[in-house]
Formats: sequence, C-alpha cells, structure tokens
Amino acid sequence: MIHQLKNIVIVGQGAMGLLWYHHLAQESFSKNAAVNTNEEMRVTLLASDQDSLSANDQKIATYKFTAYQQQQAKTYPLIYTQTVDIEAADIIILCLKSFNIAMAVEQIAKSINPQCLIILAHNGMGTLEKVIKRLPSQQVILAMLTTHGCLRYAPLAITHTGLGQSDIGLLSGKLSLPVQEQLTRQLNYALPQVCFHQDIIQKQWLKLAINCVINPITAINNIENGEVNKAKFTEQIRTVLTEIINVSRAESINLVLNDLEVIVRKVAKATAKNCSSMRGDVLAGRSTEIDYINGYIHRLAKKHNVATPENTRLWQQVLNLSTKPED
Ligand code: PAF
Repeated sequence: MIHQLKNIVIVGQGAMGLLWYHHLAQESFSKNAAVNTNEEMRVTLLASDQDSLSANDQKIATYKFTAYQQQQAKTYPLIYTQTVDIEAADIIILCLKSFNIAMAVEQIAKSINPQCLIILAHNGMGTLEKVIKRLPSQQVILAMLTTHGCLRYAPLAITHTGLGQSDIGLLSGKLSLPVQEQLTRQLNYALPQVCFHQDIIQKQWLKLAINCVINPITAINNIENGEVNKAKFTEQIRTVLTEIINVSRAESINLVLNDLEVIVRKVAKATAKNCSSMRGDVLAGRSTEIDYINGYIHRLAKKHNVATPENTRLWQQVLNLSTKPED
C-alpha cells in the first residue's frame, strides 16, 4: 500500500514557511490530485507566537499572499497546528532559521510519530547532528534547498518575488522508493519544480559555499548581493572558497574552485538587487545564521585540523555585528 502523505505541518511563520504553507494548503483545497486519495489533506502552520492568541483568534486567523508577478495581495484562512496535528503528521517541514531548528524539534519531538518525514529547510549546515539526537534513530530526515524568492513585508503577509526551484534529498533514515516518489510528486504539485537528489549533501555544500561568500560580505559591507561581483572582492572570494574546498575534501566532498566561483557570481548577479538574509538580519538587529555558515566551516576545519583564517575572520566579524542566538 502506498503511504499517503496527507497531514502536513509547516513549522515557522517566516517568508519560506508561509510560502510552503500557502502552496500546500491550496493543493489541499484543490481535489487532492497529488495525494491521489479520497481522504482529505490537512495542512497546518505551527507559529512560534500562536500560544499568545486566544483559541478564537486562532480560529479566525488569516494571512496575506501576493502571488508571483501579481500586484494584489489576497487574504486566506490560516489553520494553526494543534498537538493532534503534530501526532498525525506525515510530513513536517521546518522552515526556520538554522539556530532555531534544535529547539523547535525538542519542543515537538514527543508528539512526532516515527513514520513522519522531517524536512529541514534552512540556510547553512550543522543542524542535522542536533536533530538526530532528539528523534528516534529510524526517523527519516531530509534536506530541502530552495531558490524561490519571497519577501515578508508584515507579520503573516508575503510576496512571492522570484520563481525558483527546490531540491530535496535524504539525510538520515531509510526512505522507500514509493514514499520518495509520493513526497516529490506532492511537493512538486504544490510548488514546482521539486527534484529529488541522491547527492543532496553535495548540493548542500554548493549552497553553503554561496552563503559563505554572499551573506557575510553583503552583511559586513552593507551592500546588495550584486556588488559582491565587484573586483575588490575577487581575492577574498577565492580565499573563502579555497578554504571551503580544503575542508570539504576532509569530508569526502569534491568541489572545484572555478565551478564554485562561477556559481557564486551567477547567484550574486541573479539576485543583484536583493538584500541577503544575513544583511537583513544585521540591519534589523536580529541574530544571524553565521554559526551555521562560515562558523560551520570554522568548526569542521578545527575538527580536521585545516586552516580557514578567512572564514573564521568573517564568522567573527558577523558575530560582532549581530545579536547572539539563544541556542
Ligand atoms: O541567504 C540568502 O539571502 C540567499 O540564500 C542568497 C542565495 C545569498 C541570496 O540572497
């Protein structure tokens, strides 16, 4: 029998959380084509601040969503997650900042059923070890990397600013082929394109390299992403990437400097007018994900006895600019 993935919980009310909530919830209202079942799909959102709302306010909650290239925001009902939803969840997608992942899993771990697929959707690396510790060893944990652009302009109000794609892949546990195909089909139906990759760790490293360059440089210099391509940063970019390659080798990951530089420059160009998430966090006085980006490289480098002075310096510089996460 094909496992039906009909109960979905999105954790996090940020831009990515609402983007996935919106598309999956809309899928649940449209004849359930991707689920292929007569049973109803239920999609709920677990927000960090929902306990401050009365039961009645939770019942009448809404959010605003502006679809890609549309001018007008529309209002939609928001269904908040209750404990029974976590217990029944077939998929939980954690759309949180990396430094909030461990705590969020800790809070719901007791209610998660062992068959539930846990999807980590965040920038940076280094959360898996913390998540594994808090869940049964057989729990299936996946990573999701997405390039969709999304802007949260007010609490519970987002605009889908850039069409992107998402890559998913297995990090821990065993995933049968039918479940893998069902999961990919369902996510792809809600918000295409979604591709499943056997080598998601390699993709995570590519994304990490992009974030290790664009995020700290834009945050420290208070510049838009496109400015990273200016000649004055060329040497620094190559140093950061060379250090990442040296560390990745110790983790049996094979990266090539020239390819990395091309990808970083392409992303900086494609998002030229964007404010990186880290720059946005620094400007708003929030904690940054630097511990899971250049800080992750620094920790791995220490473990493998590899020198990464530039990544360490960027990590320290951004730490000095930002407030410290509680985790
Ligand atoms: O963190 C971000 O802002 C994004 O991951 C990226 C790719 C740097 C583009 O802005």
